[in-house]
Amino acid sequence: MKLEAIRAAEARLLLSTYDRNPLLFERGEGVHIIAENDERYLDLLSGIGVNALGYGHPAIEEAIARQSRALIHTSNLYFHAGQAKLALLLTERTGLDRVFFANTGTEAWEAAMKLARAHAGLLRSEGVNIGTKFLALEQSFHGRTYGSVSTTYKAKYREPFGPVVPGVEFVRFNDVADLREKFSHDVCAILVESIQGEGGIRPLTQEFFTAARELTESTGALLIVDEIQAGMGRTGKWCAYQHYDVRPDITTLAKPLAGGIPLGAMLCTEEVARAIHPGMHGTTFGGGPLACAVALAVIETIEREGLLAHVTEVGGYFQSKLRGLAQKHDVIVNVRGKGLMLAAELDSADLAKHTVQEMLRRKILINCTSDTVLRFLPPYILQWEHVDEAIAALDEIFTEHEESNTVASSIHAGGQVRG
Ligand SMILES: Cc1ncc(COP(=O)(O)O)c(C=O)c1O
Repeated sequence: MKLEAIRAAEARLLLSTYDRNPLLFERGEGVHIIAENDERYLDLLSGIGVNALGYGHPAIEEAIARQSRALIHTSNLYFHAGQAKLALLLTERTGLDRVFFANTGTEAWEAAMKLARAHAGLLRSEGVNIGTKFLALEQSFHGRTYGSVSTTYKAKYREPFGPVVPGVEFVRFNDVADLREKFSHDVCAILVESIQGEGGIRPLTQEFFTAARELTESTGALLIVDEIQAGMGRTGKWCAYQHYDVRPDITTLAKPLAGGIPLGAMLCTEEVARAIHPGMHGTTFGGGPLACAVALAVIETIEREGLLAHVTEVGGYFQSKLRGLAQKHDVIVNVRGKGLMLAAELDSADLAKHTVQEMLRRKILINCTSDTVLRFLPPYILQWEHVDEAIAALDEIFTEHEESNTVASSIHAGGQVRG
Protein backbone atom coordinates (compact mmCIF):
# COMPACT_ATOMS: atom_id res chain seq x y z
CA MET A 1 0.00 0.00 0.00
CA LYS A 2 1.30 3.44 -0.88
CA LEU A 3 1.07 6.52 1.32
CA GLU A 4 -2.01 8.00 -0.36
CA ALA A 5 -3.96 4.74 -0.04
CA ILE A 6 -2.94 4.35 3.61
CA ARG A 7 -3.89 7.94 4.30
CA ALA A 8 -7.32 7.48 2.76
CA ALA A 9 -7.92 4.22 4.66
CA GLU A 10 -6.83 5.77 7.98
CA ALA A 11 -9.06 8.80 7.40
CA ARG A 12 -12.00 6.39 7.01
CA LEU A 13 -11.11 3.84 9.71
CA LEU A 14 -9.14 5.43 12.56
CA LEU A 15 -10.32 7.66 15.35
CA SER A 16 -9.16 11.09 14.36
CA THR A 17 -6.56 11.67 17.10
CA TYR A 18 -3.43 12.56 15.08
CA ASP A 19 -2.52 15.09 12.45
CA ARG A 20 0.28 13.05 10.85
CA ASN A 21 3.00 14.35 8.58
CA PRO A 22 2.67 12.78 5.10
CA LEU A 23 5.61 10.39 5.43
CA LEU A 24 5.57 6.62 5.25
CA PHE A 25 8.50 5.16 7.15
CA GLU A 26 9.69 1.65 6.42
CA ARG A 27 12.91 1.05 8.33
CA GLY A 28 15.77 2.71 10.15
CA GLU A 29 19.56 2.61 10.51
CA GLY A 30 21.44 4.32 13.33
CA VAL A 31 20.26 7.93 13.60
CA HIS A 32 18.39 7.73 10.29
CA ILE A 33 14.83 6.68 9.61
CA ILE A 34 14.08 5.70 6.05
CA ALA A 35 10.85 6.39 4.15
CA GLU A 36 9.49 4.96 0.89
CA ASN A 37 11.78 5.38 -2.10
CA ASP A 38 14.77 5.04 0.23
CA GLU A 39 14.52 8.62 1.48
CA ARG A 40 16.74 8.97 4.56
CA TYR A 41 15.82 11.36 7.35
CA LEU A 42 18.13 12.44 10.17
CA ASP A 43 15.94 11.78 13.21
CA LEU A 44 16.42 14.40 15.92
CA LEU A 45 13.19 13.41 17.66
CA SER A 46 13.69 9.61 17.98
CA GLY A 47 10.00 8.74 18.19
CA ILE A 48 9.49 11.48 20.83
CA GLY A 49 12.41 10.46 22.95
CA VAL A 50 12.00 6.69 22.68
CA ASN A 51 14.63 5.34 20.26
CA ALA A 52 17.60 6.19 22.47
CA LEU A 53 19.89 3.68 20.75
CA GLY A 54 18.70 4.73 17.30
CA TYR A 55 17.41 2.25 14.75
CA GLY A 56 18.53 -1.32 14.16
CA HIS A 57 20.85 -1.49 17.17
CA PRO A 58 22.17 -5.08 17.30
CA ALA A 59 21.76 -5.28 21.10
CA ILE A 60 18.03 -4.58 20.82
CA GLU A 61 17.53 -6.86 17.83
CA GLU A 62 19.40 -9.66 19.59
CA ALA A 63 17.41 -9.25 22.84
CA ILE A 64 14.08 -9.27 20.97
CA ALA A 65 15.05 -12.31 18.90
CA ARG A 66 16.37 -14.28 21.87
CA GLN A 67 13.53 -13.47 24.26
CA SER A 68 10.78 -13.88 21.67
CA ARG A 69 12.01 -17.40 21.00
CA ALA A 70 12.01 -18.18 24.73
CA LEU A 71 8.94 -16.42 26.23
CA ILE A 72 6.99 -13.29 25.32
CA HIS A 73 4.25 -13.11 27.96
CA THR A 74 3.43 -14.80 31.26
CA SER A 75 1.00 -12.38 33.05
CA ASN A 76 1.87 -11.17 36.54
CA LEU A 77 0.41 -14.31 38.13
CA TYR A 78 3.75 -16.09 37.71
CA PHE A 79 7.48 -15.39 37.91
CA HIS A 80 9.91 -14.85 35.07
CA ALA A 81 13.54 -13.84 35.40
CA GLY A 82 13.31 -10.35 33.84
CA GLN A 83 11.55 -8.16 36.43
CA ALA A 84 13.88 -8.82 39.36
CA LYS A 85 17.02 -8.32 37.22
CA LEU A 86 15.68 -5.11 35.72
CA ALA A 87 14.41 -3.83 39.07
CA LEU A 88 17.90 -4.30 40.52
CA LEU A 89 19.49 -2.24 37.74
CA LEU A 90 16.83 0.48 37.97
CA THR A 91 16.88 0.81 41.75
CA GLU A 92 20.70 1.03 41.73
CA ARG A 93 20.64 3.74 39.06
CA THR A 94 17.76 5.85 40.40
CA GLY A 95 18.54 5.59 44.12
CA LEU A 96 15.03 4.31 44.89
CA ASP A 97 14.07 0.99 46.47
CA ARG A 98 11.13 -0.68 44.74
CA VAL A 99 9.64 -0.89 41.25
CA PHE A 100 6.22 -1.37 39.71
CA PHE A 101 6.29 -2.14 35.98
CA ALA A 102 3.64 -0.77 33.64
CA ASN A 103 3.41 -0.44 29.85
CA THR A 104 3.48 3.28 29.18
CA GLY A 105 4.35 6.59 30.75
CA THR A 106 0.83 7.49 31.65
CA GLU A 107 0.28 4.17 33.42
CA ALA A 108 3.44 4.65 35.46
CA TRP A 109 2.15 8.11 36.41
CA GLU A 110 -1.28 6.72 37.35
CA ALA A 111 0.48 4.24 39.63
CA ALA A 112 2.45 7.09 41.22
CA MET A 113 -0.71 9.11 41.91
CA LYS A 114 -2.59 6.12 43.31
CA LEU A 115 0.37 5.22 45.52
CA ALA A 116 0.57 8.80 46.83
CA ARG A 117 -3.09 8.75 47.85
CA ALA A 118 -2.73 5.27 49.39
CA HIS A 119 0.37 6.40 51.29
CA ALA A 120 -1.46 9.47 52.64
CA GLY A 121 -4.28 7.15 53.75
CA LEU A 122 -1.77 4.96 55.57
CA LEU A 123 -0.25 8.01 57.28
CA ARG A 124 -3.72 9.20 58.35
CA SER A 125 -4.39 5.77 59.85
CA GLU A 126 -1.16 6.28 61.81
CA GLY A 127 -2.38 9.64 63.13
CA VAL A 128 -0.60 11.98 60.70
CA ASN A 129 -2.44 15.14 59.61
CA ILE A 130 -2.31 14.84 55.80
CA GLY A 131 -4.92 15.25 53.04
CA THR A 132 -5.38 14.03 49.49
CA LYS A 133 -4.58 17.08 47.36
CA PHE A 134 -1.99 17.12 44.55
CA LEU A 135 0.04 20.19 43.65
CA ALA A 136 1.09 20.00 39.99
CA LEU A 137 2.89 22.64 37.93
CA GLU A 138 1.69 24.99 35.25
CA GLN A 139 2.80 23.80 31.75
CA SER A 140 3.14 20.23 33.07
CA PHE A 141 2.42 17.17 30.94
CA HIS A 142 1.94 13.75 32.56
CA GLY A 143 -0.13 11.81 30.02
CA ARG A 144 -3.63 11.20 28.75
CA THR A 145 -5.39 8.81 31.13
CA TYR A 146 -7.65 10.36 33.76
CA GLY A 147 -5.22 10.79 36.62
CA SER A 148 -2.44 11.93 34.33
CA VAL A 149 -4.58 14.33 32.37
CA SER A 150 -5.96 15.79 35.61
CA THR A 151 -2.41 16.77 36.55
CA THR A 152 -1.59 18.02 33.03
CA TYR A 153 -1.85 21.79 32.84
CA LYS A 154 -3.16 22.71 29.41
CA ALA A 155 -6.93 23.03 29.42
CA LYS A 156 -7.22 21.64 25.88
CA TYR A 157 -6.12 18.23 27.15
CA ARG A 158 -8.45 18.22 30.18
CA GLU A 159 -11.58 20.21 29.54
CA PRO A 160 -13.25 18.15 26.78
CA PHE A 161 -13.15 15.16 29.14
CA GLY A 162 -14.32 16.78 32.36
CA PRO A 163 -14.96 16.28 35.13
CA VAL A 164 -11.39 15.09 35.64
CA VAL A 165 -9.96 13.66 38.88
CA PRO A 166 -10.63 16.21 41.63
CA GLY A 167 -8.12 17.53 44.16
CA VAL A 168 -5.47 18.97 41.84
CA GLU A 169 -4.16 22.52 42.07
CA PHE A 170 -1.58 24.06 39.74
CA VAL A 171 1.41 26.07 40.97
CA ARG A 172 3.15 28.67 38.82
CA PHE A 173 6.28 27.15 37.27
CA ASN A 174 9.43 27.76 39.33
CA ASP A 175 7.52 30.18 41.60
CA VAL A 176 8.62 29.27 45.13
CA ALA A 177 6.30 31.84 46.75
CA ASP A 178 3.27 30.38 44.94
CA LEU A 179 4.35 26.87 45.97
CA ARG A 180 4.67 27.90 49.62
CA GLU A 181 1.31 29.63 49.52
CA LYS A 182 -0.52 26.63 48.04
CA PHE A 183 1.24 23.98 50.15
CA SER A 184 -0.50 22.79 53.32
CA HIS A 185 -1.32 19.67 55.34
CA ASP A 186 -4.05 18.99 52.72
CA VAL A 187 -1.35 18.13 50.16
CA CYS A 188 -0.39 14.46 49.72
CA ALA A 189 2.18 15.10 46.96
CA ILE A 190 3.95 17.71 44.87
CA LEU A 191 4.27 16.59 41.25
CA VAL A 192 7.03 17.86 38.97
CA GLU A 193 9.07 17.06 35.87
CA SER A 194 12.76 17.89 36.53
CA ILE A 195 12.81 19.31 33.01
CA GLN A 196 9.36 19.91 31.55
CA GLY A 197 9.18 18.21 28.15
CA GLU A 198 5.94 19.00 26.36
CA GLY A 199 5.88 22.28 28.32
CA GLY A 200 8.87 23.50 26.28
CA ILE A 201 12.07 21.89 27.72
CA ARG A 202 11.97 24.00 30.88
CA PRO A 203 14.28 22.92 33.73
CA LEU A 204 13.19 23.41 37.33
CA THR A 205 15.38 25.80 39.27
CA GLN A 206 17.47 24.36 42.09
CA GLU A 207 15.66 26.71 44.46
CA PHE A 208 12.23 25.40 43.46
CA PHE A 209 13.27 21.73 43.60
CA THR A 210 14.87 22.20 47.02
CA ALA A 211 11.80 24.05 48.34
CA ALA A 212 9.49 21.28 47.08
CA ARG A 213 11.67 18.67 48.82
CA GLU A 214 11.77 20.61 52.09
CA LEU A 215 8.03 21.35 52.15
CA THR A 216 7.06 17.73 51.50
CA GLU A 217 9.48 16.49 54.16
CA SER A 218 7.90 18.83 56.68
CA THR A 219 4.47 17.12 56.52
CA GLY A 220 4.98 13.57 55.21
CA ALA A 221 3.74 14.51 51.73
CA LEU A 222 5.58 13.00 48.77
CA LEU A 223 7.76 14.55 46.09
CA ILE A 224 6.96 12.77 42.82
CA VAL A 225 9.25 13.39 39.85
CA ASP A 226 8.17 12.48 36.34
CA GLU A 227 11.27 11.38 34.41
CA ILE A 228 9.37 9.83 31.54
CA GLN A 229 10.91 12.20 28.99
CA ALA A 230 14.06 13.36 30.82
CA GLY A 231 15.09 10.06 32.42
CA MET A 232 17.07 6.99 31.36
CA GLY A 233 20.17 8.95 30.38
CA ARG A 234 18.71 11.60 28.10
CA THR A 235 20.29 14.44 30.10
CA GLY A 236 23.59 12.61 30.69
CA LYS A 237 22.53 11.15 34.03
CA TRP A 238 20.13 8.29 34.62
CA CYS A 239 17.58 10.72 36.03
CA ALA A 240 17.50 14.47 35.56
CA TYR A 241 16.82 14.97 39.29
CA GLN A 242 20.37 13.71 39.89
CA HIS A 243 21.64 17.03 38.48
CA TYR A 244 19.91 18.67 41.47
CA ASP A 245 21.03 16.24 44.14
CA VAL A 246 17.39 15.66 45.13
CA ARG A 247 16.01 12.21 45.99
CA PRO A 248 12.28 12.00 45.24
CA ASP A 249 9.90 9.62 46.99
CA ILE A 250 8.56 8.37 43.68
CA THR A 251 9.76 8.64 40.10
CA THR A 252 8.40 7.42 36.78
CA LEU A 253 10.25 6.17 33.70
CA ALA A 254 9.06 5.04 30.26
CA LYS A 255 9.85 6.26 26.71
CA PRO A 256 13.42 4.91 26.07
CA LEU A 257 13.26 2.31 28.83
CA ALA A 258 12.88 -0.69 26.50
CA GLY A 259 14.26 0.84 23.30
CA GLY A 260 10.89 1.11 21.55
CA ILE A 261 9.07 -1.85 23.11
CA PRO A 262 6.39 -0.35 25.41
CA LEU A 263 7.46 -0.38 29.06
CA GLY A 264 6.93 2.01 31.96
CA ALA A 265 8.18 1.88 35.52
CA MET A 266 7.27 3.58 38.76
CA LEU A 267 9.93 3.54 41.46
CA CYS A 268 9.48 4.47 45.10
CA THR A 269 11.14 4.40 48.48
CA GLU A 270 10.71 1.59 50.99
CA GLU A 271 8.67 3.97 53.18
CA VAL A 272 6.15 4.69 50.44
CA ALA A 273 5.98 1.06 49.33
CA ARG A 274 4.42 0.18 52.70
CA ALA A 275 1.11 1.51 51.34
CA ILE A 276 0.63 -1.19 48.68
CA HIS A 277 -0.42 -4.80 49.18
CA PRO A 278 -1.19 -7.60 46.70
CA GLY A 279 -4.40 -6.97 44.79
CA MET A 280 -4.44 -3.18 45.21
CA HIS A 281 -2.89 -2.42 41.82
CA GLY A 282 -1.75 -4.36 38.78
CA THR A 283 -1.59 -4.86 35.01
CA THR A 284 -1.83 -7.76 32.56
CA PHE A 285 1.08 -6.81 30.32
CA GLY A 286 3.34 -4.58 32.44
CA GLY A 287 6.86 -5.88 32.92
CA GLY A 288 6.49 -8.79 30.52
CA PRO A 289 9.52 -10.95 29.68
CA LEU A 290 10.09 -9.40 26.25
CA ALA A 291 10.01 -5.76 27.42
CA CYS A 292 12.22 -6.56 30.43
CA ALA A 293 14.80 -8.39 28.32
CA VAL A 294 15.05 -5.43 25.94
CA ALA A 295 15.28 -2.91 28.80
CA LEU A 296 18.16 -4.91 30.29
CA ALA A 297 19.89 -4.77 26.90
CA VAL A 298 19.27 -0.99 26.68
CA ILE A 299 20.84 -0.33 30.09
CA GLU A 300 23.80 -2.64 29.44
CA THR A 301 24.38 -0.97 26.07
CA ILE A 302 24.19 2.58 27.47
CA GLU A 303 26.87 1.56 29.99
CA ARG A 304 29.05 -0.54 27.68
CA GLU A 305 29.13 2.18 25.01
CA GLY A 306 29.67 5.00 27.55
CA LEU A 307 26.56 6.76 26.29
CA LEU A 308 25.89 8.90 29.39
CA ALA A 309 29.23 10.67 28.91
CA HIS A 310 28.62 10.82 25.17
CA VAL A 311 25.18 12.42 25.67
CA THR A 312 26.80 15.06 27.88
CA GLU A 313 29.53 15.78 25.34
CA VAL A 314 27.58 15.78 22.12
CA GLY A 315 24.64 17.48 23.86
CA GLY A 316 26.97 20.20 25.13
CA TYR A 317 28.29 20.68 21.60
CA PHE A 318 24.72 20.81 20.21
CA GLN A 319 23.68 23.36 22.83
CA SER A 320 26.74 25.56 22.19
CA LYS A 321 26.01 25.49 18.45
CA LEU A 322 22.38 26.47 19.11
CA ARG A 323 23.63 29.36 21.27
CA GLY A 324 25.91 30.42 18.41
CA LEU A 325 22.89 30.42 16.08
CA ALA A 326 20.94 32.49 18.61
CA GLN A 327 23.67 35.15 18.50
CA LYS A 328 23.37 35.30 14.73
CA HIS A 329 19.58 35.12 14.44
CA ASP A 330 17.37 37.31 16.62
CA VAL A 331 14.40 35.03 15.93
CA ILE A 332 15.88 32.60 18.51
CA VAL A 333 14.90 34.08 21.85
CA ASN A 334 16.18 31.32 24.14
CA VAL A 335 18.20 28.09 24.07
CA ARG A 336 17.88 25.64 26.96
CA GLY A 337 17.99 22.03 28.07
CA LYS A 338 20.50 19.44 29.19
CA GLY A 339 22.33 16.65 27.39
CA LEU A 340 20.23 15.62 24.41
CA MET A 341 17.01 17.21 25.66
CA LEU A 342 17.30 20.59 23.99
CA ALA A 343 15.18 23.48 22.82
CA ALA A 344 15.46 26.64 20.78
CA GLU A 345 12.57 28.98 21.49
CA LEU A 346 11.59 31.22 18.58
CA ASP A 347 9.83 34.57 18.60
CA SER A 348 6.78 33.32 16.70
CA ALA A 349 4.59 30.25 16.46
CA ASP A 350 4.28 30.63 12.67
CA LEU A 351 8.04 30.63 12.27
CA ALA A 352 8.37 27.58 14.54
CA LYS A 353 5.85 25.68 12.41
CA HIS A 354 7.55 26.84 9.22
CA THR A 355 10.96 25.75 10.58
CA VAL A 356 9.74 22.22 11.36
CA GLN A 357 8.36 21.92 7.81
CA GLU A 358 11.53 23.35 6.25
CA MET A 359 13.67 20.92 8.27
CA LEU A 360 11.44 18.11 7.01
CA ARG A 361 12.02 19.31 3.43
CA ARG A 362 15.75 19.07 4.20
CA LYS A 363 15.18 15.56 5.54
CA ILE A 364 15.67 16.31 9.23
CA LEU A 365 13.00 15.46 11.82
CA ILE A 366 12.39 17.82 14.74
CA ASN A 367 9.15 19.04 16.28
CA CYS A 368 7.65 22.04 17.93
CA THR A 369 6.16 22.06 21.40
CA SER A 370 4.41 24.80 23.35
CA ASP A 371 3.80 26.67 20.06
CA THR A 372 7.16 28.41 19.76
CA VAL A 373 9.72 25.88 20.99
CA LEU A 374 11.78 23.76 18.59
CA ARG A 375 12.49 20.52 20.42
CA PHE A 376 15.45 18.19 19.89
CA LEU A 377 15.37 14.68 21.44
CA PRO A 378 17.82 12.78 19.23
CA PRO A 379 19.11 9.24 19.78
CA TYR A 380 22.00 9.03 22.26
CA ILE A 381 24.26 7.75 19.47
CA LEU A 382 24.15 11.14 17.71
CA GLN A 383 27.54 12.30 16.38
CA TRP A 384 29.09 15.76 15.93
CA GLU A 385 28.56 15.72 12.15
CA HIS A 386 24.83 15.21 12.64
CA VAL A 387 24.73 18.28 14.89
CA ASP A 388 26.60 20.26 12.21
CA GLU A 389 24.12 19.12 9.57
CA ALA A 390 21.15 20.23 11.70
CA ILE A 391 22.74 23.57 12.61
CA ALA A 392 23.59 24.32 8.96
CA ALA A 393 19.97 23.59 7.98
CA LEU A 394 18.58 25.82 10.75
CA ASP A 395 21.03 28.59 9.81
CA GLU A 396 19.86 28.42 6.20
CA ILE A 397 16.16 28.49 7.17
CA PHE A 398 16.55 31.48 9.51
CA THR A 399 18.72 33.34 6.96
CA GLU A 400 16.09 32.80 4.25
CA HIS A 401 13.39 33.94 6.66
CA GLU A 402 15.31 37.10 7.54
CA GLU A 403 16.05 37.84 3.88
CA SER A 404 12.40 37.44 2.92
CA ASN A 405 11.44 39.74 5.82
CA THR A 406 14.00 42.33 4.68
CA VAL A 407 12.64 42.19 1.12
CA ALA A 408 9.06 42.42 2.43
CA SER A 409 9.83 45.40 4.66
CA SER A 410 11.78 47.27 1.93
CA ILE A 411 8.87 46.73 -0.49
CA HIS A 412 6.56 47.96 2.28
CA ALA A 413 8.77 50.98 3.00
CA GLY A 414 9.12 51.68 -0.74
CA GLY A 415 5.35 51.45 -1.11
CA GLN A 416 4.85 53.96 1.68
CA VAL A 417 7.35 56.39 0.14
CA ARG A 418 5.64 56.13 -3.23
CA GLY A 419 2.20 56.40 -1.65
C1 LIG B 1 6.90 13.93 31.06
C2 LIG B 1 5.90 12.98 30.48
N1 LIG B 1 5.10 12.29 31.29
C3 LIG B 1 4.20 11.40 30.82
C4 LIG B 1 4.06 11.18 29.46
C5 LIG B 1 3.07 10.17 28.96
O1 LIG B 1 3.74 9.06 28.47
P1 LIG B 1 2.98 8.05 27.48
O2 LIG B 1 2.72 8.79 26.21
O3 LIG B 1 3.94 6.90 27.31
O4 LIG B 1 1.73 7.64 28.16
C6 LIG B 1 4.88 11.89 28.57
C7 LIG B 1 4.72 11.72 27.13
O5 LIG B 1 5.10 12.54 26.32
C8 LIG B 1 5.82 12.81 29.09
O6 LIG B 1 6.62 13.51 28.28
